[in-house]
Amino acid sequence: MSGKAVEKAVYLGTFAHSKSLKELEIAHDAAIFVDESGKIVAVERGVADEAAAKSFFPKLNWTESQEKPIQIIKSKEEQFFFPGFIDTHIHASQYPNAGIFGKSTLLDWLNTYTFPLESSLSSLPTAHRVYARVIARTLSHGTTTAAYYATISVPATNLLADLCLAAGQRALIGRCCMDSLAPDYYRDAGPEESIAHTRATIAHIASIDPTHAIVKPIITPRFAPSCSSQLLTGLGKLQKETGLPVQTHISENKREIDLVAELFPQSKSYAEVYDSHGLLGPKTVLAHAVHITDEERALIKERGAGISHCPVSNAALSSGMAAVRTWLDDGINVGLGTDVSGGYSPSVLEAVRQALMCSRNLAMGEGGEEAERRKLSVEEALYLGTLGGAKVVGMEGRVGAFEVGMEWDAQLVGMEEVGLEGGFEGADGGAVDIFGWESWENKLAKWVFNGDDRNTLAVWVRGRLVHERRS
Ligand code: GUN
Ligand code: ZN
Repeated sequence: MSGKAVEKAVYLGTFAHSKSLKELEIAHDAAIFVDESGKIVAVERGVADEAAAKSFFPKLNWTESQEKPIQIIKSKEEQFFFPGFIDTHIHASQYPNAGIFGKSTLLDWLNTYTFPLESSLSSLPTAHRVYARVIARTLSHGTTTAAYYATISVPATNLLADLCLAAGQRALIGRCCMDSLAPDYYRDAGPEESIAHTRATIAHIASIDPTHAIVKPIITPRFAPSCSSQLLTGLGKLQKETGLPVQTHISENKREIDLVAELFPQSKSYAEVYDSHGLLGPKTVLAHAVHITDEERALIKERGAGISHCPVSNAALSSGMAAVRTWLDDGINVGLGTDVSGGYSPSVLEAVRQALMCSRNLAMGEGGEEAERRKLSVEEALYLGTLGGAKVVGMEGRVGAFEVGMEWDAQLVGMEEVGLEGGFEGADGGAVDIFGWESWENKLAKWVFNGDDRNTLAVWVRGRLVHERRS
C-alpha cells in the first residue's frame, strides 16, 4: 500500500489558504495537528511556540514517548504553509516535450510533436524514465494532486499509477482512449479494445490501491475527434457502471470545433456530443473550454461538470483566451491545469500567474467596470489552483485547504529576506526578495509573480513528506 508510515505531527507558524473564491485567510501563530492517517484533527490559534502546541496533546489523547517523539515543524520568518497545488489537467507522457511547440496549433501540434512522443512510451524503460521524472518534478513545484493523462499503453499507464503510489503523489490516472483520426501507429484497434484496455488499467489500480487513497482511475476519452461514437457510448456506460470520474478536452481550438461539427452532425454542440454519450456529469473534468457558447456553458452548469482552465497552453498553442469570469459568474467549478506539454511548464504556480495575465489581456478589450470585473485577483487565482481544483477533481472536503477532517496535503513556502548589504549571499533562496515592509498580502503576491520551485521547501501528501528541497 501507499508507501511509508506517517507519524503524528504538528505544523506551527504561518498558514495561508482559501476559505472561498474571494477569501484567502492568513493565520499566524496557528497550529495544525495531523494524525498518523495524515488527517488534520485540530486547528488551533494563538499557539506561539512548541510548549504551547504540546499543551493541546492531552485534549487530543496524544502521548509522547522517548521512542516516539511527536514532530513539531515550525515555519520560520518569511515562510508559510500553503495547501498543495492541484493540477486538474496534465499529460504525464508529454513531459519530455515541455517547451517544444514552435508556432504550431492544436491539430498539427498533435501530429508533429505529440503522437510520436506518446507512442514511444510503449517501451516500459522509456515510460519509467519519463514518468518518474514528471512525478518528481511536479512534486518539487508543490503539486500534491494531479489528474494525469498517460498514453494508450496499458502497461505504461499501470506503471504511472505504480510510480505515483510509490512517490506518494495523489493522482487520477487516465489511459488515453482513441480509436479514430489518429495515426495507425498510435491508436486503439477499435471501441471494444479501447474499453477492454481501460478496464485493465482500472483493475490494476484497484489492485495496488483498493481504497483509492492515493491513486484512482479516470475514464479518458482523449477528445471527441479521436473517439468513435461507439467508443464514447461504451465509455459512458463504463462511467455509469463504475462511478469513476471522466476527463477529456473541449473547444480548445476553432479548427477542432469545426471538425467535431463535421464528425458529429447530429449534435448541436461539442458539449452535446459528450452529453449525448453519457459523459457530461458532475464527475467530468473538461479541459480548455476556450470557445464554448452560452448554451454550452448552461449545459455544463446544469450537468455539474468542472472546467480545467489551462492558460499557459492556451497561449502557447495560440488557442485563445478563456473567459473564466463568466464561468465563475455561472457558478461552474473551475480549476487550473498545466496541460503539459501544450503548456510549457509543469508548475501550477505558473498557471496561477498566467491565469491572472490572461484575465488582464481579456480586460484590455473591455472598458470601465467590465474591464475591472474581468480581472482575476491573486486570491481568486490561488483558489483555482487549490480549493477550486479539489472541487473539479471530486476531492472537495478532502484536500485543497486546511480544515479539520481534511488530509495534510501541503507545501512549505519560503522567501528570501534581503540583508542590509542588499546583494546575494550565495544561497539560492529563489527570486522572491522580501525587504521587510511588505504586508502578508504583498508577500503572497510577490510569490505568485516571482516564485518558482526554489520557494517550495517541503511538500507533504496525506501527512507523508514527499519532497524536500536540497539546499
Ligand atoms: N486535444 C486532444 N489531445 C490533446 C492533447 O494532448 N493536448 C491538448 N492540449 N489538447 C488535446
Ligand atoms: Zn490536454
